Amino acid sequence: MAYFHQPVLLNEVLQYLDPQPNQNFIDGTVGGAGHSAAILERAKPDGILIGLDRDPKAIEAARNNLKKFGSRAILVQENYSNINQVIEKIKNKYDAGRSLQFSAILLDLGLSSAQVSSEDERGFSFKTKQVLDMRFGPETELTAAEILNHWPEAELKRIFKEYGEERHAGLIARQIILYRKEQLINFTEQLVEVISQIYDREHYKTNPATKIFQALRIAVNDELNNLTLALPKLLSVLPAGGRLAVISFHSLEDRLVKNFFQTEAKDCLCAKELPICVCGHHKSVKILTKKPITAQAEEIRNNPRSRSAHLRVGQKL
Ligand SMILES: C[S@@+](CC[C@H](N)C(=O)[O-])C[C@H]1O[C@@H](n2cnc3c(N)ncnc32)[C@H](O)[C@@H]1O
Repeated sequence: MAYFHQPVLLNEVLQYLDPQPNQNFIDGTVGGAGHSAAILERAKPDGILIGLDRDPKAIEAARNNLKKFGSRAILVQENYSNINQVIEKIKNKYDAGRSLQFSAILLDLGLSSAQVSSEDERGFSFKTKQVLDMRFGPETELTAAEILNHWPEAELKRIFKEYGEERHAGLIARQIILYRKEQLINFTEQLVEVISQIYDREHYKTNPATKIFQALRIAVNDELNNLTLALPKLLSVLPAGGRLAVISFHSLEDRLVKNFFQTEAKDCLCAKELPICVCGHHKSVKILTKKPITAQAEEIRNNPRSRSAHLRVGQKL
């Protein structure tokens, strides 16, 4: 499969991570390796990059696209929330006792263009007939079809509302329940048909199916829990001065990142009424982006996907 993906906010990522010769990096969502290639270029001649992705196809693409960097690119098909185990293994294998320090970690969340292309067959896109799978990687058991055919109406409504920010979440959940009494929903076109019974597509600039597909993908891959679990782990593997940069495309993800950085940038988390600190929390982050960094007009023109990108960066203290 031809793997294409234009990295978003590339200049801004490079500005904040500021890769220097021989520094080491982690790209937790390597995808087609657009960001990784630019980082490795600047970390010449000996800096290494560990690139993780849940998707075996992305790892294959990254391996291809980072060939010229040889052993400086270490690619692992793994969830970024398992960063500690990955680093341990790599230290044992490549580092033979030397201390491997990372200057920065990047997460570029969401889907790559390759995953939504018609050549991918996992049902991320509603534009072609595909099986409703939506798993990033084979280790996940839950599929979108499983959710649609077996989850209770209230749960369907919840994920459409929370993860899809869909205003007709309840109506669509109801319609799915009615549809599945007659037949199982296994293909993208069936789901599009159900949604079109609620929405008349002609009247909308963005296809109303977009939000429902997004909600299912987030639920299948447990993306929000995963991010919540991973942020402290990622921060913990950075030395003082190391930077953690996260690009998100969904308001809930962006809020998680913002809250995490804000919490870690505070010394005490006790309720204001308490006369003395009992939590013992010490700040471990300096926030480098007071407001999220968003794409310039020119990037949005060239790459519409960048429109909803929000970059936040924190520096470990
Ligand atoms: C937007 S793409 C990254 C694109 C990449 N920055 C580039 O320049 O090509 C997001 C990637 O993150 C991967 N992904 C999503 N959740 C993940 C997770 N928990 N752990 C590792 N990879 C993940 C997806 O499979 C996808 O390939």
